[in-house]
Amino acid sequence: MDWAKNFYSETGRWWAKAEARIGDRDHHRVAQLHEYAGKQPHRVLELGPGYGTTAAVTANAGHTVTAVELSDRATVASAFAAEVTGGTMTVINDDFYAVQLEGPFDVVSYWNGFGIGSDADQRRLLTRIAAEWLRPGGVALIDVSNPFVWASWHGDEEHLMPNPEQGYEHELYETTTFDPITSTATDTWWRADLPEEKHSQHLRCYTPADLALLVAGTGLTLTTVVGDPAGLLKDQHEYLAVLHHEV
Ligand SMILES: C[S@@+](CC[C@H](N)C(=O)[O-])C[C@H]1O[C@@H](n2cnc3c(N)ncnc32)[C@H](O)[C@@H]1O
Repeated sequence: MDWAKNFYSETGRWWAKAEARIGDRDHHRVAQLHEYAGKQPHRVLELGPGYGTTAAVTANAGHTVTAVELSDRATVASAFAAEVTGGTMTVINDDFYAVQLEGPFDVVSYWNGFGIGSDADQRRLLTRIAAEWLRPGGVALIDVSNPFVWASWHGDEEHLMPNPEQGYEHELYETTTFDPITSTATDTWWRADLPEEKHSQHLRCYTPADLALLVAGTGLTLTTVVGDPAGLLKDQHEYLAVLHHEV
Protein backbone atom coordinates (compact mmCIF):
# COMPACT_ATOMS: atom_id res chain seq x y z
CA MET A 1 0.00 0.00 0.00
CA ASP A 2 3.08 2.21 0.32
CA TRP A 3 2.78 3.32 -3.30
CA ALA A 4 -0.64 4.97 -2.90
CA LYS A 5 0.34 8.32 -1.40
CA ASN A 6 3.08 8.96 -3.98
CA PHE A 7 1.09 7.65 -6.95
CA TYR A 8 -2.00 9.80 -6.32
CA SER A 9 0.05 12.85 -5.28
CA GLU A 10 2.29 12.70 -8.37
CA THR A 11 -0.48 11.96 -10.89
CA GLY A 12 -2.61 14.60 -9.15
CA ARG A 13 0.08 17.14 -9.99
CA TRP A 14 -0.13 16.04 -13.67
CA TRP A 15 -3.90 16.01 -13.94
CA ALA A 16 -5.51 18.34 -11.39
CA LYS A 17 -5.63 21.30 -13.78
CA ALA A 18 -7.62 19.22 -16.28
CA GLU A 19 -9.63 16.94 -14.01
CA ALA A 20 -10.36 18.79 -10.77
CA ARG A 21 -13.66 20.02 -12.17
CA ILE A 22 -17.17 19.23 -11.08
CA GLY A 23 -18.90 17.22 -13.80
CA ASP A 24 -21.68 14.78 -14.64
CA ARG A 25 -19.94 11.92 -12.84
CA ASP A 26 -20.17 13.78 -9.52
CA HIS A 27 -23.87 14.56 -9.96
CA HIS A 28 -24.54 10.95 -10.99
CA ARG A 29 -22.85 9.69 -7.82
CA VAL A 30 -24.93 12.00 -5.61
CA ALA A 31 -28.07 10.80 -7.42
CA GLN A 32 -26.98 7.24 -6.55
CA LEU A 33 -26.44 8.25 -2.92
CA HIS A 34 -29.99 9.64 -2.85
CA GLU A 35 -31.35 6.51 -4.51
CA TYR A 36 -29.81 4.13 -1.98
CA ALA A 37 -29.81 6.26 1.19
CA GLY A 38 -32.62 8.78 0.63
CA LYS A 39 -32.48 12.53 0.04
CA GLN A 40 -32.78 13.69 3.65
CA PRO A 41 -29.68 15.40 5.08
CA HIS A 42 -27.07 12.81 5.99
CA ARG A 43 -23.74 12.70 7.77
CA VAL A 44 -21.54 11.33 4.98
CA LEU A 45 -18.01 9.98 5.32
CA GLU A 46 -16.28 9.97 1.94
CA LEU A 47 -13.11 7.87 1.77
CA GLY A 48 -10.43 8.71 -0.80
CA PRO A 49 -12.21 11.75 -2.30
CA GLY A 50 -9.22 12.71 -4.48
CA TYR A 51 -9.80 16.28 -5.69
CA GLY A 52 -13.06 16.39 -3.74
CA THR A 53 -15.46 17.14 -6.58
CA THR A 54 -18.00 14.48 -5.57
CA ALA A 55 -17.69 15.48 -1.90
CA ALA A 56 -18.42 19.10 -2.87
CA VAL A 57 -21.54 18.17 -4.85
CA THR A 58 -22.65 15.96 -1.95
CA ALA A 59 -22.25 18.86 0.48
CA ASN A 60 -24.00 21.25 -1.90
CA ALA A 61 -26.97 18.86 -1.84
CA GLY A 62 -27.32 19.64 1.90
CA HIS A 63 -25.27 16.88 3.49
CA THR A 64 -22.56 17.14 6.15
CA VAL A 65 -19.50 15.61 4.53
CA THR A 66 -16.23 14.48 6.08
CA ALA A 67 -13.68 13.55 3.41
CA VAL A 68 -10.48 11.64 4.29
CA GLU A 69 -7.76 11.87 1.62
CA LEU A 70 -4.24 10.44 1.90
CA SER A 71 -2.49 12.23 -0.96
CA ASP A 72 -1.70 15.84 -1.82
CA ARG A 73 -4.96 15.88 -3.78
CA ALA A 74 -6.39 16.87 -0.37
CA THR A 75 -5.16 20.42 -1.04
CA VAL A 76 -7.39 20.68 -4.10
CA ALA A 77 -10.27 19.12 -2.13
CA SER A 78 -9.84 21.74 0.60
CA ALA A 79 -10.22 24.48 -2.01
CA PHE A 80 -13.53 22.90 -3.11
CA ALA A 81 -14.59 22.69 0.55
CA ALA A 82 -14.10 26.43 0.93
CA GLU A 83 -16.58 27.03 -1.93
CA VAL A 84 -19.38 24.78 -0.66
CA THR A 85 -22.74 26.55 -0.67
CA GLY A 86 -25.18 24.04 0.85
CA GLY A 87 -24.21 21.69 3.68
CA THR A 88 -20.65 21.41 4.94
CA MET A 89 -17.48 19.70 3.74
CA THR A 90 -14.48 19.01 5.96
CA VAL A 91 -11.32 17.60 4.40
CA ILE A 92 -8.90 15.57 6.53
CA ASN A 93 -5.51 14.86 4.95
CA ASP A 94 -4.87 11.44 6.53
CA ASP A 95 -4.84 7.69 6.03
CA PHE A 96 -8.27 6.13 6.49
CA TYR A 97 -6.64 3.10 8.14
CA ALA A 98 -5.24 5.32 10.90
CA VAL A 99 -7.53 8.35 11.24
CA GLN A 100 -9.78 8.70 14.28
CA LEU A 101 -13.17 10.15 13.42
CA GLU A 102 -16.22 11.18 15.34
CA GLY A 103 -19.03 9.02 14.04
CA PRO A 104 -21.52 7.72 13.49
CA PHE A 105 -22.25 8.39 9.83
CA ASP A 106 -25.41 7.60 7.89
CA VAL A 107 -23.48 6.94 4.68
CA VAL A 108 -19.88 5.90 3.97
CA SER A 109 -18.83 6.26 0.33
CA TYR A 110 -15.68 5.22 -1.50
CA TRP A 111 -15.99 6.18 -5.14
CA ASN A 112 -13.40 4.62 -7.45
CA GLY A 113 -10.50 3.52 -5.28
CA PHE A 114 -11.34 0.34 -3.34
CA GLY A 115 -8.93 -2.59 -3.79
CA ILE A 116 -5.57 -1.22 -2.63
CA GLY A 117 -3.52 -3.76 -0.67
CA SER A 118 -4.34 -7.31 0.37
CA ASP A 119 -7.69 -8.98 1.05
CA ALA A 120 -6.87 -8.60 4.75
CA ASP A 121 -6.49 -4.84 4.20
CA GLN A 122 -9.89 -4.58 2.49
CA ARG A 123 -11.46 -6.56 5.32
CA ARG A 124 -9.83 -4.27 7.87
CA LEU A 125 -11.35 -1.27 6.09
CA LEU A 126 -14.79 -2.88 5.76
CA THR A 127 -14.69 -3.79 9.45
CA ARG A 128 -13.81 -0.19 10.39
CA ILE A 129 -16.74 1.03 8.29
CA ALA A 130 -19.14 -1.29 10.12
CA ALA A 131 -17.75 -1.21 13.65
CA GLU A 132 -16.58 2.41 13.98
CA TRP A 133 -18.23 4.66 11.42
CA LEU A 134 -21.57 3.53 10.03
CA ARG A 135 -24.66 3.71 12.20
CA PRO A 136 -26.74 0.51 12.39
CA GLY A 137 -28.90 0.41 9.27
CA GLY A 138 -26.56 2.85 7.49
CA VAL A 139 -25.41 2.42 3.89
CA ALA A 140 -21.94 2.00 2.40
CA LEU A 141 -21.50 2.80 -1.30
CA ILE A 142 -18.29 1.36 -2.72
CA ASP A 143 -17.07 1.24 -6.31
CA VAL A 144 -15.34 -2.09 -6.93
CA SER A 145 -12.94 -2.84 -9.81
CA ASN A 146 -14.41 -5.47 -12.14
CA PRO A 147 -11.92 -8.23 -13.10
CA PHE A 148 -13.76 -9.19 -16.31
CA VAL A 149 -13.03 -5.81 -17.90
CA TRP A 150 -9.58 -5.18 -16.37
CA ALA A 151 -8.49 -8.62 -17.65
CA SER A 152 -9.55 -7.63 -21.18
CA TRP A 153 -7.17 -4.63 -20.97
CA HIS A 154 -4.12 -6.84 -20.27
CA GLY A 155 -1.21 -5.70 -22.47
CA ASP A 156 -2.83 -2.41 -23.54
CA GLU A 157 -0.52 0.54 -24.11
CA GLU A 158 -1.40 4.21 -24.45
CA HIS A 159 0.62 7.19 -25.61
CA LEU A 160 -1.00 10.50 -24.67
CA MET A 161 0.17 13.80 -26.08
CA PRO A 162 0.00 17.02 -24.03
CA ASN A 163 -3.11 19.12 -24.42
CA PRO A 164 -2.39 22.36 -22.53
CA GLU A 165 -5.71 23.91 -23.55
CA GLN A 166 -7.47 21.12 -21.64
CA GLY A 167 -4.96 21.35 -18.76
CA TYR A 168 -2.88 18.26 -19.69
CA GLU A 169 0.73 19.48 -19.57
CA HIS A 170 2.72 16.25 -20.07
CA GLU A 171 3.30 13.69 -22.77
CA LEU A 172 2.54 10.39 -21.01
CA TYR A 173 2.73 6.64 -21.51
CA GLU A 174 0.51 4.04 -19.83
CA THR A 175 0.61 0.24 -19.75
CA THR A 176 -2.01 -2.01 -18.18
CA THR A 177 -1.51 -5.60 -17.07
CA PHE A 178 -3.72 -8.07 -15.21
CA ASP A 179 -2.60 -10.97 -13.04
CA PRO A 180 -5.30 -13.68 -13.22
CA ILE A 181 -3.85 -15.55 -10.24
CA THR A 182 -4.26 -12.68 -7.78
CA SER A 183 -7.00 -10.89 -9.78
CA THR A 184 -4.94 -7.71 -9.59
CA ALA A 185 -4.65 -5.01 -12.25
CA THR A 186 -1.46 -2.96 -12.52
CA ASP A 187 -1.71 0.39 -14.25
CA THR A 188 1.69 2.01 -14.91
CA TRP A 189 2.29 5.59 -16.03
CA TRP A 190 5.36 7.62 -16.88
CA ARG A 191 6.26 10.96 -18.38
CA ALA A 192 7.94 10.81 -21.80
CA ASP A 193 10.68 13.11 -20.52
CA LEU A 194 11.27 10.96 -17.38
CA PRO A 195 11.10 7.37 -18.68
CA GLU A 196 12.98 5.95 -15.68
CA GLU A 197 10.34 7.23 -13.25
CA LYS A 198 7.46 4.79 -13.52
CA HIS A 199 4.38 5.14 -11.30
CA SER A 200 2.09 2.15 -10.79
CA GLN A 201 -1.22 1.59 -9.10
CA HIS A 202 -2.27 -1.95 -8.18
CA LEU A 203 -5.97 -2.69 -7.86
CA ARG A 204 -7.36 -5.93 -6.49
CA CYS A 205 -10.47 -6.67 -8.55
CA TYR A 206 -13.43 -8.62 -7.16
CA THR A 207 -16.32 -10.28 -8.94
CA PRO A 208 -19.60 -9.62 -7.08
CA ALA A 209 -19.49 -13.23 -5.83
CA ASP A 210 -15.96 -12.73 -4.46
CA LEU A 211 -16.98 -9.44 -2.86
CA ALA A 212 -19.82 -11.19 -1.02
CA LEU A 213 -17.24 -13.64 0.38
CA LEU A 214 -14.87 -10.77 1.28
CA VAL A 215 -17.48 -8.88 3.30
CA ALA A 216 -18.70 -11.93 5.23
CA GLY A 217 -18.06 -11.42 8.92
CA THR A 218 -17.19 -7.71 8.64
CA GLY A 219 -20.61 -6.53 9.85
CA LEU A 220 -21.66 -5.44 6.36
CA THR A 221 -23.97 -7.22 3.92
CA LEU A 222 -23.84 -6.81 0.16
CA THR A 223 -27.42 -5.90 -0.80
CA THR A 224 -27.17 -4.57 -4.38
CA VAL A 225 -24.71 -4.69 -7.25
CA VAL A 226 -25.37 -1.80 -9.62
CA GLY A 227 -24.63 -2.97 -13.13
CA ASP A 228 -26.13 -5.19 -15.79
CA PRO A 229 -24.50 -8.55 -16.63
CA ALA A 230 -23.75 -7.54 -20.24
CA GLY A 231 -21.95 -4.39 -19.10
CA LEU A 232 -20.01 -6.29 -16.44
CA LEU A 233 -18.75 -8.69 -19.12
CA LYS A 234 -17.97 -5.98 -21.64
CA ASP A 235 -17.10 -2.42 -20.64
CA GLN A 236 -18.09 -1.61 -17.05
CA HIS A 237 -14.64 -1.50 -15.39
CA GLU A 238 -16.15 -0.98 -11.95
CA TYR A 239 -19.53 -1.52 -10.33
CA LEU A 240 -21.19 0.12 -7.38
CA ALA A 241 -21.62 -2.19 -4.40
CA VAL A 242 -24.35 -1.18 -1.97
CA LEU A 243 -23.70 -2.58 1.50
CA HIS A 244 -25.79 -2.30 4.62
CA HIS A 245 -24.63 -2.28 8.19
CA GLU A 246 -26.19 -5.31 9.80
CA VAL A 247 -28.45 -4.21 12.65
C1 LIG B 1 -8.55 6.32 -7.80
S1 LIG B 1 -8.53 7.72 -6.75
C2 LIG B 1 -10.22 8.22 -6.82
C3 LIG B 1 -10.47 9.60 -6.27
C4 LIG B 1 -11.94 10.02 -6.22
N1 LIG B 1 -12.70 9.16 -5.32
C5 LIG B 1 -12.54 10.00 -7.59
O1 LIG B 1 -13.37 9.16 -7.90
O2 LIG B 1 -12.13 10.84 -8.41
C6 LIG B 1 -8.42 6.96 -5.13
C7 LIG B 1 -8.15 7.97 -4.03
O3 LIG B 1 -8.12 7.30 -2.77
C8 LIG B 1 -7.08 7.87 -2.00
N2 LIG B 1 -6.63 6.88 -1.01
C9 LIG B 1 -6.05 5.68 -1.26
N3 LIG B 1 -5.73 5.06 -0.11
C10 LIG B 1 -6.11 5.90 0.89
C11 LIG B 1 -6.02 5.82 2.31
N4 LIG B 1 -5.47 4.76 2.93
N5 LIG B 1 -6.52 6.84 3.04
C12 LIG B 1 -7.10 7.92 2.41
N6 LIG B 1 -7.19 8.06 1.06
C13 LIG B 1 -6.70 7.05 0.31
C14 LIG B 1 -6.00 8.17 -3.02
O4 LIG B 1 -5.03 9.09 -2.54
C15 LIG B 1 -6.83 8.70 -4.19
O5 LIG B 1 -7.02 10.09 -4.13
